[in-house]
Amino acid sequence: MDLGIEENAALVTAGTAGLGLASAEALVSAGCDVAVCGRSGDRLQRAERRLEAAGSGDVLAMRADITAPDDIEAFVEGTIDGFGRLDHVVTSAGGPPPGAFLDTTDEDWYDAYDLLVMSVVRTVRAAQPTLAADGGGTIVTITSRSVREVLDDLVLSNSVRRAVLGLTKTLADEFAPKIRVNSVLPGAHETDRIEELIQDGVDRDEYETYGDGLDEWSDGIALDRVGDPGELGDAVAWLSSERASYVNGVAVPIDGGSMRGI
Ligand SMILES: NC(=O)c1ccc[n+]([C@@H]2O[C@H](COP(=O)([O-])OP(=O)(O)OC[C@H]3O[C@@H](n4cnc5c(N)ncnc54)[C@H](OP(=O)(O)O)[C@@H]3O)[C@@H](O)[C@H]2O)c1
Repeated sequence: MDLGIEENAALVTAGTAGLGLASAEALVSAGCDVAVCGRSGDRLQRAERRLEAAGSGDVLAMRADITAPDDIEAFVEGTIDGFGRLDHVVTSAGGPPPGAFLDTTDEDWYDAYDLLVMSVVRTVRAAQPTLAADGGGTIVTITSRSVREVLDDLVLSNSVRRAVLGLTKTLADEFAPKIRVNSVLPGAHETDRIEELIQDGVDRDEYETYGDGLDEWSDGIALDRVGDPGELGDAVAWLSSERASYVNGVAVPIDGGSMRGI
């Protein structure tokens, strides 16, 4: 399918691994120039190589911590300067630490808010004037199925991420018709983060093998498997594309049917 976004320019926050990188890969495969940011130099280099191999667009990989306001501004400005335009913004983030409510401190809550919510607020604020210029643009926020369904031992994710959904829905109205704003709600996808969690389970003798861990993570998912990050990335690229030109303000679960709510 021709997504109609060839020669557009996109940025993906926290896009050097996992779901952010998969989204960047889908956009570069569709012919976009793509910028990603992250903190680790190794990951930046690996992501840059992978994205350059994935498509014809130009690639920028910039060091930026999305909890630092100046870094976000520099990332957005660097992307616009580098590509001379900006059409698509995708926001990803690291995951807040797991834990139960009684284990969390005030600092944990403020840190989670900075990482998950203020990173989106600051990215969108910096990008909006350029997105709205010329032909308009798109924003896709990557959140989690935890905005719809409480997940065990993830009180910070379950609580704080909902603000991103409220923001997404509000911006879909405030920024229309120039900018479409949508969200994707990932279920379990086999990214570095999930691989580490399963490997931890193997090390703690919770699972005998990595495959057993993966089987356990697949329990309760209608499709009986965890997702490939690329399956989320394809949905992000589609929502960013001309093929989704009448889709605005939606929150799409990409979860293999794990959520049972109607
Ligand atoms: N994977 C899943 O199944 C799943 C399901 C539901 C929701 N989610 C959520 O989706 C998001 C992405 O998850 P993932 O599985 O793709 O994670 P991941 O594989 O751990 O990748 C996280 C990416 O974010 C970057 N990052 C983390 N903190 C950052 C910061 N402060 N500033 C800049 N970059 C930062 C990391 O690079 P550096 O560490 O080098 O900065 C890395 O590129 C997370 O919020 C996660 O909770 C994931």
